[in-house]
Amino acid sequence: MYYNSLLKTIGNTPLVKINLESPASILAKLEYLNPSGSLKDRPALFMIEEAERKGLLKAGNTIIDASSGNYGISLAMIGAIKGYSVIICVPEKTSTEKQQTIKAYGAELIVCPDTANVEDPNSYHNLAIKLSKEIPNSFIPNQYLNLSNTETHYKSTGPEIWHQTEGKITHFIAGAGTCGTISGVGQYLKQQNPAIKIIGVDSPNSFRATKGNPKPYQIEGIGIDLDSPVVDYTVMDEIIEVSDKDAFSYVPLLASKYGFLVGLSSGAVAYATAQYTKQLTKDNYVVIIFGDSGRAYLTKNIFAESKSEQSKSVTNRLRRHTLSNQKQIL
Ligand SMILES: Cc1ncc(COP(=O)(O)O)c(C=O)c1O
Repeated sequence: MYYNSLLKTIGNTPLVKINLESPASILAKLEYLNPSGSLKDRPALFMIEEAERKGLLKAGNTIIDASSGNYGISLAMIGAIKGYSVIICVPEKTSTEKQQTIKAYGAELIVCPDTANVEDPNSYHNLAIKLSKEIPNSFIPNQYLNLSNTETHYKSTGPEIWHQTEGKITHFIAGAGTCGTISGVGQYLKQQNPAIKIIGVDSPNSFRATKGNPKPYQIEGIGIDLDSPVVDYTVMDEIIEVSDKDAFSYVPLLASKYGFLVGLSSGAVAYATAQYTKQLTKDNYVVIIFGDSGRAYLTKNIFAESKSEQSKSVTNRLRRHTLSNQKQIL
């Protein structure tokens, strides 16, 4: 059996039990196994193919959009496969690996200054909108305002989770950026069973958390940075705020203790899950989203060993042993 296009491999990601210390069953949806490495392959493809169907995007056109990284990577991959030129605007905080990946797929990358407020004229959001007005024959899907972003997850991620858990899911916890994931999955799951709790994970410095006075933060991908139709607060039972420090602290733990090499938003989600699920029971099934891979953040030094860990490491012990043997021989 084979697929006749890489794009056909988007979605249907595995759901895997992770033994976080919790009385409940925690099941991670491995969205980083999508072909370009993140959950953003789903809405990017959906919005592009919808634009093609509506005649808004034609052969030879240029796709332009703003992204914290992963969505830009998805558009760049799709553009390469379908033959469109792609221009992606990212903020400076986007990891070097993500910036290089966008370029590797042949897209043009524009790095904009980090601005806490998306309304800032220099923000990556505003530059993408400006370029789409200036560049002829260009199309901007605009994931922040496009309701198809939500619809994607309503039609694919939500039903997958429902079927994979055989309807046993009691809680859903996901990072909230554009909120396409939490809103779309939330809408679908609430329709199946209104008792399912939908929990978003945000940065304490986001536009929403600070009531319109955002401050810089380092987690990439999550953070509710504007009021938009994509954000459906009616399906969110709770929003948990996780600091950069707590999110970053969980990323190396998830890799070295559990074998999940995942990124910063997954670190934030796992941290929130570990805290939140202490109050649950063994009858609870909690689905969490692991949105991208830790390989996109290796140069951020979050996996660097601490001094005490280094001195404990096997190689150092072996080195000390060899040195003391050499001294004895001398
Ligand atoms: C790794 C990662 N996790 C979570 C999110 C948040 O997803 P959404 O934009 O659907 O809220 C993003 C968004 O870019 C992301 O890249």
